[in-house]
Amino acid sequence: MRIVLVGPPGAGKGTQATRLAEKLRVPHISTGDLFRANISRQTDLGKLAKSYMDAGNLVPDEVTIAMAKDRMEQPDAEGGFLLDGFPRNVSQAEALDELLQTEGIKLDAVLDLEVPEEEIVKRIAGRRICRKDSAHVFHVTYSPPKEEGVCDVCGGELYQRDDDSEGTVRKRLEVYHTQTEPIIGYYKAQGLVVTISSLGPVDEITQRALGALKRG
Ligand code: AP5
Ligand code: ZN
Repeated sequence: MRIVLVGPPGAGKGTQATRLAEKLRVPHISTGDLFRANISRQTDLGKLAKSYMDAGNLVPDEVTIAMAKDRMEQPDAEGGFLLDGFPRNVSQAEALDELLQTEGIKLDAVLDLEVPEEEIVKRIAGRRICRKDSAHVFHVTYSPPKEEGVCDVCGGELYQRDDDSEGTVRKRLEVYHTQTEPIIGYYKAQGLVVTISSLGPVDEITQRALGALKRG
């Protein structure tokens, strides 16, 4: 399956993508995680991306599209993929359509995760991520690690993202509404959008998503 996951910051895209990718046996491709990996390796791309991410802005399309394309062309993505955080504006959606067209493939669905704004703020304020593997995501109250500051899965150190400060989150939400939300209309016109609530226990949301994807 080829799926795009869309939703505001803190909607649970990363949390659900990890689970859905495993169930659907496709790679989880997160442009945010790819940028963060570049930042920790201190690559030129990482240095460029960090300045935009810390301000809550989108990284320029040119580098983002090239990076996403490169990742989608890896052998493990041949049979399908779950895109998390890409596309993030209409021009990225158009670039993705072009890329898929040249490959002669199509998206199966765009899964839209809905969550109220007050919940977003709580989720982001409490989020902690593993330094060794950004797929290991915790929340200080909703899904706390057994030992404070230590990843349950691999023992890595847990940290708070630089762009999770209150001011930057507000900016990220504004960017979501102005630049990312319009892609929902873009994909609705293609009949691809499936909307579910992202409120409730994590496993219930995964089941909700799988059911909605099956129904199409
Ligand atoms: P990115 O990393 O994609 O961040 P985001 O879209 O803002 O989304 P988040 O990672 O904040 O949230 P999420 O929805 O994954 O939530 P999570 O599962 O962690 O992008 C970061 C930046 O990179 C962008 O601002 C931009 O600068 C740049 N960028 C990335 N892609 C780009 C692109 N295509 N173009 C240009 N720039 C790009 O959950 C949040 C918390 O809630 C966690 O603590 C979790 O444990 C908890 N939680 C999850 N589900 C539940 C639940 N059901 N109940 C209770 N708690 C829950
Ligand atoms: Zn870990």
